[in-house]
Amino acid sequence: MRKAMVAGNWKMNGSLVSNELLVNTILKGADKLLTDSVDVVLCPPNVYLSQICELLKNSSVMCGVQNISLHQSDGAHTGEVNARMMKEFGTKYVIVGHSERRANQFESDADVLSKIKHALQYQMIPIFCVGETLDQRESGRIEVVISDQVLSVLDGLTEKEASEIVVAYEPVWAIGTGLTASPDQAQEVHRYIRSLFSSRYGQELAEKVRILYGGSVNAANASDLFKMKDIDGGLVGGASLKADEFLGICRSST
Ligand code: G3H
Repeated sequence: MRKAMVAGNWKMNGSLVSNELLVNTILKGADKLLTDSVDVVLCPPNVYLSQICELLKNSSVMCGVQNISLHQSDGAHTGEVNARMMKEFGTKYVIVGHSERRANQFESDADVLSKIKHALQYQMIPIFCVGETLDQRESGRIEVVISDQVLSVLDGLTEKEASEIVVAYEPVWAIGTGLTASPDQAQEVHRYIRSLFSSRYGQELAEKVRILYGGSVNAANASDLFKMKDIDGGLVGGASLKADEFLGICRSST
């Protein structure tokens, strides 16, 4: 049985004042009963990591980050922050391969694999994002795109490493657009992703891998998505900035 997970990706949003209010309101709703059935993770911008980890320190809500440097060793990498530094704050998760970074920072599949390996070396769990564009979907290339993204990572991981990652299916056309994939559309791709793990490592490992859905998830559509067999929770952008919406999504996953 896979434990549900809901991760909030704040992207480049927040301030010291608004973060404190948001986190404290989430903490009032995220009691032990809730976090016993769903792993709740907040991923703020790096500059707020210290603040958020401090606010979360006596709670069962966990902290994650949105990216780590491709450079593993400390040194002359201006503006970069590596996994070792993130880990010092108690960070448990890191989002890797988000489509915004693939598109805007030109991250390749090879970069994504390296970051996943760095994260695992520092006992951080990567939330590995994959997803197709609208053009790729409409031209019938969903499976090719998803298998290229997934297998380029699985090819470089050991079986143990593969068993430790979380996958997030985020159709690019659904991110921040209000256009959510239907539960059936999402389930079809989640089932396919699980089948890629199964053909590489067997059914037992594949059944343990958590696969989150991301793309315009909100409190109103989450429960229909999370009811699907292979959808284990969500990676939430915009709605994670509103405590009531985010808590509603967390409750829908239980
Ligand atoms: O990482 C989160 C996703 O990009 C989804 O963002 O919920 O604003 O569509 P969204």
